[in-house]
Amino acid sequence: VDVEVIEEDFSLSGYEHYMRKEYLEQPASAEAVLRGRLDDRFGTPRLNGLNLDPRAKREIRRVKVIGCGSAFYVGQMGAQMIEELARIPADAEPASEFRYRNAVIEPTTLYVAVSQSGETADTAIAVDEIKRKGGRVVGVVNVVGSSIARACDGGIYLHAGPEVSVASTKALTNMALAFAMLAIDLGRVRDLSVSNGRRLIAGLQRIPGQIAQVLENEDQIADVAKRLSGAPSIFFIGRVRGFPVAREGAQKFKEISYRHAEAYQSSELKHGPLALISPELPTVAVVPHDELTGRNLGALQEIGARGGPLVAVTHGDVDFGELIVERIDVPRNEPELDPILLTVPMQLLAYHAALHLGHDIDKPRNLAKSVTVE
Ligand code: AGP
Repeated sequence: VDVEVIEEDFSLSGYEHYMRKEYLEQPASAEAVLRGRLDDRFGTPRLNGLNLDPRAKREIRRVKVIGCGSAFYVGQMGAQMIEELARIPADAEPASEFRYRNAVIEPTTLYVAVSQSGETADTAIAVDEIKRKGGRVVGVVNVVGSSIARACDGGIYLHAGPEVSVASTKALTNMALAFAMLAIDLGRVRDLSVSNGRRLIAGLQRIPGQIAQVLENEDQIADVAKRLSGAPSIFFIGRVRGFPVAREGAQKFKEISYRHAEAYQSSELKHGPLALISPELPTVAVVPHDELTGRNLGALQEIGARGGPLVAVTHGDVDFGELIVERIDVPRNEPELDPILLTVPMQLLAYHAALHLGHDIDKPRNLAKSVTVE
């Protein structure tokens, strides 16, 4: 079993808030989840803790990810990576819904339970239900030896270290990295070529350094956040790879700034929400550089034409033409992995908006770090 004992540091170490300490730790925590797991020669990760041999991996016909809140949003990012890289149908569902709907459990489906704490009641109960019906569950969990980790048949520990802030940051980034490794691993026992495997492994190796580059941009992101904090409501939009990023962005913003934020697929705007666009409603748009950039810019034109203020979380080489956009640039990686980096500025936007508004950042009202009761 994949267990590594790391030094537990629960102190604030001079920071004003755990949340900031934890998001600044990400270059190191991201290194920790990747350490010893990347084989660049064969272009494949080594995930021994999954307890799945290559044959068992090839027999998987479907992947179902379950988790709650932000863990569910990262699960959605992970399901997309698995479907794209391993060509296995995959989706994510909130564990809090899954557990109540008497789901059909299939022996050829791999169930993935994702949780920072490993103690979220809805996720733990969903895992028990899957096991009771004979399903196989692997965990993507941070806390070693937690209830969910113990109940699973195997898994990937996140090695993010203790996370104290209610708003999760470094654990989520490590979940996304763990899903990327799982997707490449399942792909490499199928049709993902060794050259593509090597390309993606090299991409993963660049991520800790690129997270550090995003964090260096904190002052600019803080300025944007202060301006956003004045808006009564904000749209977060993205499509396909960008949509789970937008959902997590809206979640983080709501959680600690107490401002209304809604995530929407950019592709769906014209089917309703465009009616809300006005100079009073800012939109934070996730615009990766990929085959959908042109379509994303089309949605932004629609918003700009109606006077909606735009913030783009994007890459330096995306050209917005005449559009007036406040941009937050993150380094490019491989397109399949870009959602991991695009999520990082969302943490800083939420933190600095909440700081400006004077909220209790580490303990937002009405919320607990882990929801262990039903
Ligand atoms: C994240 O910022 C939230 N506090 C929350 O949505 C959290 O991700 C969710 O409650 C799941 O927690 P877990 O990862 O410990 O299971």
